Amino acid sequence: MQYFQSTVQSNIQITEDIWVMTVLRHGAQASAGQFFMLKCWDQELTLMRPISVYQATEEHLLFMYRIVGQGTRKLSQLQKGDPISLLGGLGNGYPLDQLHGHIAVLGGGVGIPPLCLTAQMLQVQGCTVDAYLGYRDQLFAIEAFEPYCQDIFISSELGPEGYRGYITDLLKAEQYDAVLTCGPEVMMRKVAQICAAQQVTCWCSMEHRMACGIGACLGCSIPTSEGMKRVCKDGPIFLSTHLFQEV
Ligand SMILES: Cc1cc2nc3c(=O)[nH]c(=O)nc-3n(C[C@H](O)[C@H](O)[C@H](O)COP(=O)(O)OP(=O)(O)OC[C@H]3O[C@@H](n4cnc5c(N)ncnc54)[C@H](O)[C@@H]3O)c2cc1C
Ligand code: FES
Repeated sequence: MQYFQSTVQSNIQITEDIWVMTVLRHGAQASAGQFFMLKCWDQELTLMRPISVYQATEEHLLFMYRIVGQGTRKLSQLQKGDPISLLGGLGNGYPLDQLHGHIAVLGGGVGIPPLCLTAQMLQVQGCTVDAYLGYRDQLFAIEAFEPYCQDIFISSELGPEGYRGYITDLLKAEQYDAVLTCGPEVMMRKVAQICAAQQVTCWCSMEHRMACGIGACLGCSIPTSEGMKRVCKDGPIFLSTHLFQEV
C-alpha cells in the first residue's frame, strides 16, 4: 500500500452517469478486487473516496465510477494533466491462489468494474472465466471483458439488450468451481443462496462507507459469522457463508 500523487491521463464519460478515469500507476500494487482511496480536493471534502481497480497496465490504473454525490462529481470534473492523490492498493482482494478451473464472475451495476481485472488475472493463471453482467438500463464495459471470458451473459431490468430481468436468474452455479460476485447486497445474497444450494464456493465483495480505508477507524465494521470485520482491511472480499447466516 502506498500514498502517492498521480496525474490524470484521461477521464471519459461512457454513460449518463458513469465515467472511466485513467491515472499514472507509479508502481502501485493492485490485485483483483482491491480498491484505492481517491482524492482531488483540499478544503471542501475531508475524506478520500474508495473506488475499485477496473483495469491495470504496467503504467496505468483505470477506475470506473458512477457519480452519486459530491466526491464522485468532483472526480468526473478532472481533466488530462490534473493532479490526483491515491492510497492503495487496499483490501484483501479475491483469493486468486484458491481459485482454479471454471470460475464465474457476477456483477451488478458498478459492482461490474472490479470483476474485469479479476477476470483478466484469473485467465492469466489458467482459469476459464464466464462473466454475468447485470444492468438496470444502460450497458457498459462488456467489450472490456471479452478478451478474458469464454462466455458473457447480460441482463438488464429496463434496457433493450440481453435477458430482461435479474442477472441471478441466469446463473447456473453447478457449472463452476467458484463464483465471485460484486454489486448490490440484495443481489449478492441471492448469488450466495444459489451457490449454497449447489455447494459451490462463493466470494462476495462488500461495500461500506469508508473513512480511513486502512483499518484504523473501525468505521466500516460489519457483523460476520467470524465476529465484527472491517470491510476495508479484512475485506472487502468475504466468503458468502461468513456474511449471510441463512446460506
Ligand atoms: C471497497 C469499495 C469499492 C468501491 N468501488 C467502486 C467503484 O469501482 N465504482 C463506483 O462507482 N463506486 C465504487 N464504490 C462506491 C463509492 O465509493 C461511492 O459511490 C463514493 O464514495 C460516493 O462518494 P460521493 O462523495 O460521490 O457521494 P456521497 O456524497 O458521499 O454520498 C452520496 C450518496 O451515495 C451513498 N454512498 C456513498 N458511499 C457509498 C458506499 N460506499 N456504498 C453505498 N452507498 C454509498 C450515500 O449514502 C449517499 O446517498 C466503492 C465503495 C467501496 C467501499
Ligand atoms: S474505513 Fe476506517 S477501518 Fe475501514
